[in-house]
Amino acid sequence: MKLFLDTAIYEEIAEAVNWGVIDGVTTNPTLIAKAGHDHEEQVKRISQIIGNVSAEVVSEKKDDMVVEGRRIAAWHKNVIVKVPLTPEGLAAGKVLAGEGIRINVTLCFSVNQALLAAAIGAYIVSPFAGRLDDINEDGMRVVADIVAAYRQQEIKTKVLAASIRNPMHVTQAALAGADIATMPFGVLKMLFLHPLTEAGQKKFLEDYRKTQEAKPMPTARQEPATKR
Ligand code: G3P
Repeated sequence: MKLFLDTAIYEEIAEAVNWGVIDGVTTNPTLIAKAGHDHEEQVKRISQIIGNVSAEVVSEKKDDMVVEGRRIAAWHKNVIVKVPLTPEGLAAGKVLAGEGIRINVTLCFSVNQALLAAAIGAYIVSPFAGRLDDINEDGMRVVADIVAAYRQQEIKTKVLAASIRNPMHVTQAALAGADIATMPFGVLKMLFLHPLTEAGQKKFLEDYRKTQEAKPMPTARQEPATKR
C-alpha cells in the first residue's frame, strides 16, 4: 500500500518527501483553502517535488468540469484530476479519462458508487472511511468490500482509502487491501512512533557513548611521532 499525504501545505509535503515514505498527495478545495494559497500555484509547486498529486475540479456541470479538468491536467504531468461521485462528475470524468487524463473519483461512500467510478475508467476511487465512521458506519468495512468487489470483477481502478483520521485506520486500510492510504501529516508522523523504538535507540546511543568514554587515553608511545 502506498502512503499519500492529505494536505496542501508545502512544508509538510517537503518534509515527508525528505523522509522518503510518501508517493503522492491528495488535495481538495477545503485543504487548499486551509493552506491559504492560490489553487493552481500551489498544485504546481507541490507537483515539482512529488508525483501523483490529486487536484479537484470545482465546476458543477459536466461541460465546465471537462474544461476545468483539462486545464488542471495541463498544470503538470504529475497531476491527477479529482471529480466528485455525482452524475455530472462521472460524465466529465469519463470524457477526461478517454483523453488519457488520470481521474480520481472522490466522495465515494459505497461499493455501488465504487462500481460507477470503475465504469468510467477512473484511475483511482476514494472511499472516505472517516466520514462513514462519523455517521456510525464502518468506513474500513466499506474500503475492504470495495477491494473485494474490484478483485472479484478484475477491476484495475486503484482503491485509495481517504478521510483517514488515526494510525489504526492506516493499518486497517493495509489489511483491507487498499492500494493507497492518504492521511494528514499528523497521522503520518504517528506511524513512526513506538515506545520500544524510542527506548531502544536511546539505549543504543548511551551504550555507544560509554564505549567512547571507556577508551584509554593515548599513551606517549601511541602518539604519532612528531617531526623535530
Ligand atoms: O482525502 C479526503 C479527505 O480529505 C477527507 O478527509 O477528514 O475531511 O473527512 P476528512
